[in-house]
Amino acid sequence: MSANSTSRTSPSDLTLTVRDQRFGRNAKREKGVDPVASAWFAALSASFPRGEAMFIDAVKAFRDDVPEDLAREIRAFIKQEVNHSREHLAFNRALEAAGYDIASLDKRIAGLVAETQEKPAIVQLAITAALEHFTAMFAHQFLKHPDRYATPGMGDPALWSWHAVEEIEHKGVAFDTWLHATRDWKPMKRWSVRNIVMLKVTGRFLRNRMQDALALLEQDGITGTSAKLRLAWHLLGNPGKLRRIFPAWLGYFRPGFHPWDEDDRYLIARHDSEYAAANLESVPAQ
Ligand SMILES: [Fe+2]
Ligand SMILES: [Fe+2]
Repeated sequence: MSANSTSRTSPSDLTLTVRDQRFGRNAKREKGVDPVASAWFAALSASFPRGEAMFIDAVKAFRDDVPEDLAREIRAFIKQEVNHSREHLAFNRALEAAGYDIASLDKRIAGLVAETQEKPAIVQLAITAALEHFTAMFAHQFLKHPDRYATPGMGDPALWSWHAVEEIEHKGVAFDTWLHATRDWKPMKRWSVRNIVMLKVTGRFLRNRMQDALALLEQDGITGTSAKLRLAWHLLGNPGKLRRIFPAWLGYFRPGFHPWDEDDRYLIARHDSEYAAANLESVPAQ
């Protein structure tokens, strides 16, 4: 990947594969099964359709004069995110059918997205690069230790691993678009803007997703300090979803950081070979 004015790049032999798959349309939330994990997964899923549409718009705004290889990656990124939104919408509907009120969350998310889309286009792109780092960090952890995170309340685990694979694959796209769009900026300005944006995005992301998760826990009858402590333990204790991404989050602030500083395509290869093996197993013997 060529991104002008930077020594860091995406791997030149990186391939983005659009895996147009569909998952468990009849997936149901199992009430009472690990309610905290269920609420966190549901809070994330509720944010994806509108959030990912915002990412697409933010990247699209700067795609006109990018190098051809980045333009190709942007096209694949858009297709992947459109598919993710479609599958998470289906999952969100299944959650509603199982009794979660997702509509109230969705309304709030729509307001937050509208607020973001009033910001300058370059800020929206920096926000997208920061949030894509979040999805890539969660995706890495999920694919590396699927057993640590798997819980019946998450619906079909294959939905989450499919999404995680493609998040890793396109983790450099918004960032490379940002590098290209800011290629004439002084390094100090570029570094400080992306890091200030990351700090603000982190605060908002945590506040909003935790608020949504607590709202969902309340729907399960878990409220007050108990709900907060249980959610905090889930995120910071065991399985420690936030605690485990902390080193990677910190890495974003390093001057010269690039999402592909860590090449974790082995996780994609592992997922794809397991998927292929599972499909082969399901083919009836001749
Ligand atoms: Fe996605
Ligand atoms: Fe993404």
